[in-house]
Amino acid sequence: MTLDKPVPKAGKKTMKAAIRTQYGPPELLRVKEVEIPVPKDDEVLVRVHAATVNRTDCGILWARPWIIRFFTGLRKPRLASTGTDFAGVVEVVGKKVTNFAVGNRVWGFADNGLGSHAQYITIQAEGNILTIPDGITFEQAAASPEGAHYAYNFINKIRVKSGDDVLVNGASGAIGSACVQLLRHFGANVTAVCNTPNLDLVRSLGADRVIDYLREDFTKENRQYDFVMDAVGKSTFGKCKPILRPGGIYQSSELGPGGQNIYLPLITKLRGGKRVIFPIPSDVKASLELIRKLLETGEFRPVIDRTYPLEEIAEAYRYVDSGKKTGNVVLVMGD
Ligand SMILES: NC(=O)c1ccc[n+]([C@@H]2O[C@H](COP(=O)([O-])OP(=O)(O)OC[C@H]3O[C@@H](n4cnc5c(N)ncnc54)[C@H](OP(=O)(O)O)[C@@H]3O)[C@@H](O)[C@H]2O)c1
Repeated sequence: MTLDKPVPKAGKKTMKAAIRTQYGPPELLRVKEVEIPVPKDDEVLVRVHAATVNRTDCGILWARPWIIRFFTGLRKPRLASTGTDFAGVVEVVGKKVTNFAVGNRVWGFADNGLGSHAQYITIQAEGNILTIPDGITFEQAAASPEGAHYAYNFINKIRVKSGDDVLVNGASGAIGSACVQLLRHFGANVTAVCNTPNLDLVRSLGADRVIDYLREDFTKENRQYDFVMDAVGKSTFGKCKPILRPGGIYQSSELGPGGQNIYLPLITKLRGGKRVIFPIPSDVKASLELIRKLLETGEFRPVIDRTYPLEEIAEAYRYVDSGKKTGNVVLVMGD
């Protein structure tokens, strides 16, 4: 649904969608009746049951950082609805679609936005959409891709071997909680850093050791790691250098003070020794395929913090934007 599409005409089928016409705070979002989109020949129409409100959505809502506008619309948002992930049921298949059928339970993700904070979306059948494994609910499926895609894009930028020692800072977040589970899948020994209330949760995700950041500074520990994954971007390479082994690598989900994680990869590569890698996420489909496999084997389960109805989307955004969520925040679309 683009911003230029007309509002519903009499007789057209409508749906509820969270709509805004400019970048800015969650208060700009209105849940409105709009026209249900019609799939093209190579698309499917999905009845969305659940989506998440995540940090990528916050970035797109506010256009933060500014550069995001090159992907989501320069002056105003290209899509009227926010939403980057979805889980639901295929209701219509385009004439050329052969890989999905009406009734398939499906899920997907696109980091530039899908307009999935709505009861229906259209998506290319060959795009970032897969069937939901049996036994996984719509809420779980919706909460699976965003954090895990970024987590996998930390891991696939380096060669994690079985037995490597890895520290994950911010292990209670969407990216961090996925990072812990994926690292366990790849055989790493995981030390996870989180707050006091989440120690047991993070242990249950497979962390070998947990550090309570409210009581202990992990950068002062007398231990070293092959990799430090700063999933919440609250530390720096400078602080983590002493806990990296020779040749060890620091990665962060944030640009860091003064945007240092953009230029440190080049500087540290030229110097040799301990290094910074800034993971640029790519290939969503490959991430979805891995996550799907791990959902099937039970090696990955998304952490769900709160669930909001679509009507309370602004409240969901405010909570996610606070940086206090544990794992994922789910939005359910209702009948
Ligand atoms: N590079 C990219 O492409 C990309 C994409 C998406 C997101 N991001 C960024 O990645 C970061 C993480 O995203 P997310 O969705 O995983 O975050 P999130 O779920 O919002 O992370 C919140 C969690 O981090 C914990 N936390 C806060 N401060 C901490 C600290 N100093 N040490 C350890 N844990 C701390 C919070 O616990 P408390 O309750 O204790 O505060 C909370 O559980 C965000 O900054 C986001 O903007 C980057």
